[in-house]
Amino acid sequence: MNASAANMLLNDWDAPAPSSTPPAATSSAPAGISGFAGTPSGNAPRPSLAPINAADKRIVNGKADINQLAPFKYPWAWEFFLKANRNHWTPLEISMAQDVHDYHHKLTAAERHVFENVLAYLTTSDILAMRNIGLAVMEKMSAPELQIYQARQVYEEALHTWTYQHCIESLGLDQQEIYNRYRVVPEIHGKIALANRRLEKILRSDFDLTDRANLHEFALSYFFFAVIFEGCWFYNGFTPIFALQRRGLMKGAAEQLQYIMRDEVLHCAFGIRVVRELLKEEGMELDPQALRELWDEAEAAERAYAGYILHAPILGYNAELHAAQFRFIANRRARQVGVVEPFPRAENVLPWLDEQANLRKEKNFFETRVTEYQTGGALAWE
Ligand SMILES: [Fe+2]
Ligand SMILES: [Fe+2]
Repeated sequence: MNASAANMLLNDWDAPAPSSTPPAATSSAPAGISGFAGTPSGNAPRPSLAPINAADKRIVNGKADINQLAPFKYPWAWEFFLKANRNHWTPLEISMAQDVHDYHHKLTAAERHVFENVLAYLTTSDILAMRNIGLAVMEKMSAPELQIYQARQVYEEALHTWTYQHCIESLGLDQQEIYNRYRVVPEIHGKIALANRRLEKILRSDFDLTDRANLHEFALSYFFFAVIFEGCWFYNGFTPIFALQRRGLMKGAAEQLQYIMRDEVLHCAFGIRVVRELLKEEGMELDPQALRELWDEAEAAERAYAGYILHAPILGYNAELHAAQFRFIANRRARQVGVVEPFPRAENVLPWLDEQANLRKEKNFFETRVTEYQTGGALAWE
């Protein structure tokens, strides 16, 4: 058998394994519980056995069995998982054919600059999101219903990365150049560097959350990630491309982003709920001065970024609108968490954003979509 035939066989779930090893002897005893249910062998101490009590679960530092899903202490987290599964899609299902024509023949130089740089920022930021949830946050959650939603979130962040790669490939963009842009453009690098700095400590697996100062740092970092990085930067980050979509341009890419946006809204809402519950459980408040610094540096980074991607305004959109909308969304997120609004006089300068962000399956409107996902219509938005 040659190597590729052997690989095909390995990938075929129904094919017998290419080995002559006889099947293992079957046993009536359930696997994996012998150490708990049976008679302990030798002189090993008998483990103390007791059902878990949902009230013993905690967001972090919990002692309840992490491998037992129910009874739930956080049933809302399980609901998030079910809801997330109603938004299943892949980038291959959305036609990019018209976008290829738009990109090469209709977009102005300023519009191409906006489009490419938004994409360049997103390629890096979704990998950062995937790593933060998968490697930093998820392992610190001590209730399985929280981890299960975050497992789904990790997959979704990977799916988003695939989506950007699919857009880059479809449009024939230079991957070397696009992916490296965040490393050479200071205004794009600034947002990523800020996020790395804010998340660096909690990415350490030896970060001790029984220490109150560390716990506050964790809550603040998670706040930054869910509320600012996902809830403001992502929520507002697709807007320049939605501005093109409103004029009938780059509709395939924009629809891809609408599906991503739907995921991100859930990520943000889940994160906000976790932060609120964590603070309540721990009898802790976020330090107002630390929050102020967080908002200010996030706003400064966003303004610099907007100034670069929109150094020349495009029809219906400019850097001032982008920065102003960041401040408006920031206030909304602050209200959702229950902290002081950071930018009290901010106005909703893009009233169409929420509408545009809300993917609806109106007939003949999203004609680019090959397949309908009726379950997606059940999602609520904010
Ligand atoms: Fe994402
Ligand atoms: Fe996300």
